[in-house]
Amino acid sequence: MSKRRILVTSALPYANGPIHLGHLVEYIQTDIWVRFQRLRGNHCVYVCADDTHGTAIMLRARRESRSEEQVIAQSQQEHERDFSHFQISFDNYGSTHSSENRQLCGEIWSAIREAGLVKTKDVEQLFDVQQKTFLADRFVRGTCPTCGSPDQPGDNCSQCGTTYTPAELIDPISTLSGSTPEIRTAEHLFIELEQLHGFLEQWTQNEDHLQPEVANYLKGHFLGSGDSPEGAKILRDWDISRPAPYFGFEIPDSPGHFWYVWFDAPIGYIASTQQWCDKNGECLDDWWRSEECEIHHFLGKDITYFHTLFWPGMLKTAGFQLPTKVHIHGFLTVNGEKMSKSKGTFIKAETFHRHLDPSALRYFYASKLGPKLDDIDLSLEEFVMKVNSDLVNKVVNLASRSAKFVRDVGLASVYPDDGGLFDKAAAAGEEIAEAYESCDYNRAMRLIMALADEANPYVEQAEPWNLKKDPARAGQLQDVCTVAINLFRQLVIYLSPVLPDLAKKTETLLGEPITDWEQSKTPQLGTPVAKFKHMMKRIDQKDIDKMVDDTQKEQAEELAATLSESTAKFQDGGEALAAEPMTEECTIDDFVKVDLRVARVVEADHVDGARKLLKLKLSLGGDETRTVFAGIKAAYEPEKLVGRLVVMVANLKPRQMKFGLSEGMVCASGAGGAEVFLLSPDEGAVPGQRVH
Ligand code: 2FM
Ligand code: ZN
Repeated sequence: MSKRRILVTSALPYANGPIHLGHLVEYIQTDIWVRFQRLRGNHCVYVCADDTHGTAIMLRARRESRSEEQVIAQSQQEHERDFSHFQISFDNYGSTHSSENRQLCGEIWSAIREAGLVKTKDVEQLFDVQQKTFLADRFVRGTCPTCGSPDQPGDNCSQCGTTYTPAELIDPISTLSGSTPEIRTAEHLFIELEQLHGFLEQWTQNEDHLQPEVANYLKGHFLGSGDSPEGAKILRDWDISRPAPYFGFEIPDSPGHFWYVWFDAPIGYIASTQQWCDKNGECLDDWWRSEECEIHHFLGKDITYFHTLFWPGMLKTAGFQLPTKVHIHGFLTVNGEKMSKSKGTFIKAETFHRHLDPSALRYFYASKLGPKLDDIDLSLEEFVMKVNSDLVNKVVNLASRSAKFVRDVGLASVYPDDGGLFDKAAAAGEEIAEAYESCDYNRAMRLIMALADEANPYVEQAEPWNLKKDPARAGQLQDVCTVAINLFRQLVIYLSPVLPDLAKKTETLLGEPITDWEQSKTPQLGTPVAKFKHMMKRIDQKDIDKMVDDTQKEQAEELAATLSESTAKFQDGGEALAAEPMTEECTIDDFVKVDLRVARVVEADHVDGARKLLKLKLSLGGDETRTVFAGIKAAYEPEKLVGRLVVMVANLKPRQMKFGLSEGMVCASGAGGAEVFLLSPDEGAVPGQRVH
């Protein structure tokens, strides 16, 4: 069969947060597919990038007193580190904040303008005067205009279910500053998607571009029969611009307007391909404007709408190749529930990697993933059992129980009679390949493990460890080991898209690279075998416990840091302090409720396992002391704090933290992290004195 040219993408992760196990479902799913295609001899290129624009990044940069560029550079570095730990084999990892992306956005925008799809409309939105920014729905809360329930989100009421615009809320409050926002009108640019209705209906409903449930969903909700005079539903205009201030690209022909992050994000797929082309002497048109090239997007079901309506509409209008297939997956649950910060199941990639082998997660996800949109569950108990019983006991054991016996003599030069095991496994190759091709990894793993289940009894019956004891049976021993090692090698070839690390170790053991699926059809013979080195460790429940424990500690620290930040903000008067919710204006009566006291640091220590906290013992005069956990570790060495006067909130309700009871807070200003400045009274102040 001729070699296919295939471009593959995963959704671009936001530069605003760390990669966690939920993200990894997608990157692992995609990476397995990509590695499988390469192993089949196809020319498969895998690109991705950080998704860097939007309000969230802008606010975070303000909050941390850094530039947006600094925030996204750090995030990019952390994301790339995590992906490499999990062996995600991108050919290029770019950024939507790149010159290539700006250029491509301009080209696509011009085409959309020329096609007459752009119009302007005035949009009423709430504006936070203190923060000088328009507020997205999620940054507004207020009283429901229908049922009067207080503290409802900006888009719909959790009590009565009414949907509304934030401007309709009664007594709205900006969660960024705690202030009352005002209604302002700004011009926005819109794309009239309805003009592409016919095309979208045809593209989404034909040629298997989408999984059947996705095609049906789109027809049912957006494209099928509805209320228009022609009897079809009408696609809403897409609000594609945001007024300043906004971190993104300014629209060249509309100064003061920025492309909404969801406009430039998918164009990042093309921009990342452009970077790869430039580095590899390739031409972008061969990948994005050629019918010879297949384009495959992998993404989660929450962003279906963007990738199956807007994105094909943009590509079509600008003359790019349309996706061959959009592969959509479900969400991850952990222990049967949504990932939860308090239960320690909101696990970051980095935390997992600190305690466990990424290959184990790759295999577990593979064993769960199918071609549909079902959610997958990571039951930590099942994870331990499955990895240990399948990979360690069934697969690696085949090699560990045979490789050491043929170290001196190597593999036999003629393949011995194995009762048909090798041929049977070779014949299973096509069925396994079909399962990979259709993203039915669960089926592929079951087929492979069924082969392992047949290989193991062969070794058990042949007992190489007993043959070894009898020098007269050395030939038989070599034969048995040659069979066992070749059955192992076949399994590793089939598993190599999932377990590249195991494939590498097998290459070292057998001295030949695994580069082609077809290698599973021919045994390796007459070659030496290297010293057997451990290939995969059993998972120990203790490591799982440590990972969950670390995750809980991280959450506790984050919370403490957020709390100490908002205290600092409160003291600092508010200017330049950004995104944490602040209290409303307070009266003098309110203020005197806060018992601020001068205190002396009498002890200061690191906290075992906490990365941001120091434990302080504060004296309030006499023998009254308080223990306080403060998120100031990055800024202060504990020894240097002892003896210093600080200001503390002395009547804060004690809070039970992971590390102990915290009985107050110290006041500080600054952005957090290394930039924290403790407040101290002038010399002469006495511990216990009240601050007025
Ligand atoms: O949902 C998300 O995490 C987005 N950052 C995905 C963007 S995918 C693509 F369109 F860029
Ligand atoms: Zn309501």
